[in-house]
Amino acid sequence: MVPTLEIKNLHVNVAGKTILQGVNLTIKSGEIHALLGPNGHGKSTLLNAIMGHPNYEVTEGSIFYDGQDVLKLGVDERAHLGLFLVMQAPTEVPGVVESDFLRAAINAKTNQPVPLFKFLKELDAATKSLNFNLDVAQRYLNEGFSGGEKKRNELLQMLLLNPSLVLFDELDSGLDVDALNTVTKVINEYKHSHPDFACIIVSHYAHMYELVKPTKVHIMVNGKIVLEGDESLIKKVNAEGYEWLQKEHGIKINKDVKPIVLGSCGVKVKK
Ligand SMILES: Nc1ncnc2c1ncn2[C@@H]1O[C@H](COP(=O)(O)OP(=O)(O)OP(=O)(O)O)[C@@H](O)[C@H]1O
Ligand SMILES: [Mg+2]
Repeated sequence: MVPTLEIKNLHVNVAGKTILQGVNLTIKSGEIHALLGPNGHGKSTLLNAIMGHPNYEVTEGSIFYDGQDVLKLGVDERAHLGLFLVMQAPTEVPGVVESDFLRAAINAKTNQPVPLFKFLKELDAATKSLNFNLDVAQRYLNEGFSGGEKKRNELLQMLLLNPSLVLFDELDSGLDVDALNTVTKVINEYKHSHPDFACIIVSHYAHMYELVKPTKVHIMVNGKIVLEGDESLIKKVNAEGYEWLQKEHGIKINKDVKPIVLGSCGVKVKK
């Protein structure tokens, strides 16, 4: 059976506020789904909820992948199933050396230690394909990395962990033109070499979807997928923004989207 992601009537709260209000989405293997929508309307919330981020509380609905009830699984178990989130803003983890982290992640995923030589060979090949300097492997995870380096580092993890369902959050953010071409080439090659591969790509830019062609396009507004279609939707958004949704489809865009500040347990308070 080819793995399918099936999301039904998903409701998610963040910091006590309802963000997702009934998302339905089905992704079959081999498909590339584009997810667009105005800022603050729930795209990252959807991806984080699928991956199991603890700040995103699922209050209603279901997520199944490959026949398994994803909501019953921890983040690590979801990763074992083949899920992987390329974060919008990857976290810096001072004190954790990149190569140690990568090797530990591979070992956890495969349940057996990867031989050092094999690991180094794979690391070398993956960094080369991303035009990434192998020196990053000796630095602390994401610490002091530029925006583009952080994104490429996410892709490096993807290449080494071999997920089958990848959630790309603002894939293009921070990437310069050359890096964007490199990263999208890597994704297209990955798709060819992994027959089960499927993904959701969140981006605000039409150019992104010219480089990785979507099978289906979704627009998310007010925590719901309000419109689905093909690439013509991307062209329309690119040319006109989102106001036409109200005129042509009667979809009112809630502008009262205020950020909630949760803080982070990783933030040090200076005394
Ligand atoms: N971890 C979090 N902490 C605080 N607020 C959050 C968190 N996650 C989501 N929110 C809030 O939920 C709402 C939806 O945010 P989300 O990040 O899902 O939007 P988005 O559609 O991804 O926007 P963008 O296009 O700007 O990335 C926003 O009001 C945001 O401030
Ligand atoms: Mg986002």
